[in-house]
Amino acid sequence: MAGVRIDASGEAVDEVAIDEQLRRDVREGLSAQRKSLPSKWFYDARGSELFERITALPEYYPTRAEREILVREAHAIAATTGARTLVELGAGSSEKTRVLLDGLVRHGTVRQFVPQDVSGSALTAAAEAISTDYPDLDVRGVVGDFTENLAELPGTSPRLVVFLGGTIGNFLPADRVRFLRSVRGVLEPGEWLLLGTDLVKDPATLVRAYDDAEGVTAEFNRNVLAVLATRLDADVDPADFDHVAVWDAEQEWIEMRLRARRDLVVRIPGADLEVRFARGEDVRTEISAKFRPERVRTELAEAGFALEHWWTDEAGRFGLSLAQAT
Ligand code: SAH
Ligand code: TRP
Repeated sequence: MAGVRIDASGEAVDEVAIDEQLRRDVREGLSAQRKSLPSKWFYDARGSELFERITALPEYYPTRAEREILVREAHAIAATTGARTLVELGAGSSEKTRVLLDGLVRHGTVRQFVPQDVSGSALTAAAEAISTDYPDLDVRGVVGDFTENLAELPGTSPRLVVFLGGTIGNFLPADRVRFLRSVRGVLEPGEWLLLGTDLVKDPATLVRAYDDAEGVTAEFNRNVLAVLATRLDADVDPADFDHVAVWDAEQEWIEMRLRARRDLVVRIPGADLEVRFARGEDVRTEISAKFRPERVRTELAEAGFALEHWWTDEAGRFGLSLAQAT
């Protein structure tokens, strides 16, 4: 397809190295006293498809709320940043990003789009579709982990890095600050970050967004078990686990868990591991932190960004920050 290039950050996508990393994460996460798994392992091809279905669910408001802000502010974002390169971390389908691209193309400065994601299937499809629909844009997809290799992302200045969907909330607080600093570390002073953050609101609305009536989120959550079965030969039956979403009022985050429905022994030969679960025992698979505006500003400042604009949707559910590297 004209103009698309997909790179793995590093060499070619190395399946052996991916399995090795999964093995380490699984050994560490499932042999701990309180079991957990890193959330990036949700996103194989099926996981990415399920996430796209989540974004269309009536209960999952963040995608629509963030899109509403982007539609309203795309022009201001383009005019303020004058971006030449748009870099998107954890891009997924880049559906909402088209709103931003439209604004930037109309403004006339943008030349290059660099979407990045761990999910090769989602990334390739998105990069090809965008390259077709924006023929003048140089599209370079990068398959990789946004907690590593950010320095290898291509692009000419001034760059606008966007991190949408509230994915920043999927880091634990300490990792979040480290991540923002690493983004700041690859930017020059004066370059830009556009950050989407879901906001603290009534717990019932939050819990529903992560536990929909149709059960798509439950299926998404259990998909991490299917990844363990495929990649590490785990003899796990996803039906042995319930999907659980709880609001932690103290930490102000939603916690996603998989809860064993009975006493279980799961063999994971690919990780050389046998894991025992007591009935009712949980594996934490994801947190999704919710923010208050002041915290976003403070954490951006700690990482070396000055908040230039703060926008929310009309209903005040979701926040979008435009910040400049200082
Ligand atoms: N930006 C999109 C998708 C959000 S879902 C939106 O706003 O709708 C989170 C995305 O981050 C998924 O596409 C997932 O594959 C990607 N992701 C998760 N962990 C990642 C990691 N460590 N490195 C790179 N991408 C990651
Ligand atoms: N970044 C998304 C969020 O925190 C990811 C997500 C949405 C998710 N729904 C989920 C992760 C359900 C795990 C389970 O909103």
